[in-house]
Amino acid sequence: MKVLVATEKPFAAVAVEGIRKVMDEAGYELLLLEKYQSKEQLLEAMADVDALIVRSDKVDAEVINAAGNLKIVVRAGAGYDNVDLQAATARGICVENTPGQNSNAVAELVFGLAVMAVRNGYNGTSGSELKEKTLGIHAFGQVGRNVARIAKGFGMEVSALDPFCPDEVMAEAGVKPVHSVESLYADNKIVSLHIPATDATRRSVGRDLITLMPKGGVLINTARKEVIDEEGLAQALEQRPDIKYVADVKPDNADELTARFGDRVFFTPKKMGAQTSEANINAGIAAARQIVDFLNNGVDTFRVNK
Ligand code: 3PG
Repeated sequence: MKVLVATEKPFAAVAVEGIRKVMDEAGYELLLLEKYQSKEQLLEAMADVDALIVRSDKVDAEVINAAGNLKIVVRAGAGYDNVDLQAATARGICVENTPGQNSNAVAELVFGLAVMAVRNGYNGTSGSELKEKTLGIHAFGQVGRNVARIAKGFGMEVSALDPFCPDEVMAEAGVKPVHSVESLYADNKIVSLHIPATDATRRSVGRDLITLMPKGGVLINTARKEVIDEEGLAQALEQRPDIKYVADVKPDNADELTARFGDRVFFTPKKMGAQTSEANINAGIAAARQIVDFLNNGVDTFRVNK
């Protein structure tokens, strides 16, 4: 079996070694395509592979159909909005993710961004502390739960909105369940976004919600740029000079926002949330094991296109 790891943003070398070990033990061949510059390179590398491991790499119908032998695609990470599920399903190809494997890394970055925002980008002026401030978590999945755990350590008051998560789960984590999106934004000084990019969530956070935030509100996005209505965000920042937006997922209008709003906005140059050795090892090796388990034993526990 041939397994291709195709990563525009590569895993740490130690994670690749871990993946290689899993493949060697299974008697599979590992092909590596890192930092590729064009889709053509990816299409070429797909030619006779049986399995594919990617991160945020775009796996569209053309990529899927470039591999006649392809049986499984594993997105080493949580969000699989980069994979064309319909095209994969049409060919009977299994698509999986590795939920939870990189979530602590993303959650820790939320606090990197939060501290930077409330300390005014370390510009020498007096900022504020996170202790006793309100934090609203928009979606209480694996990352949201890690954010809540860390926020408790900071002494924050934490609430969360997630129609798919029972109130008891939040209560057990010491988190107040919120049932309206308006309340989540109106009642929390800091809001951290963790919703996936789906048809229901794309452009769902815009001016109306952002301007509900209390004075000095900070919106943190380590999820997906697509969930923000970028025009609405610009309008909200214009209307409310006290609000800040910090993101690990650079919006398409980043340059415009930076020119207009200066240090009230901040974007990491590349998506860095899951870019730790630990997260790479966890997600990369989980992906490798899931492939072996699927190809050898038909196990598809983490299949997302059932
Ligand atoms: C995820 O969905 O797992 C995170 O957004 C991390 O994505 P990345 O592996 O492309 O950094």
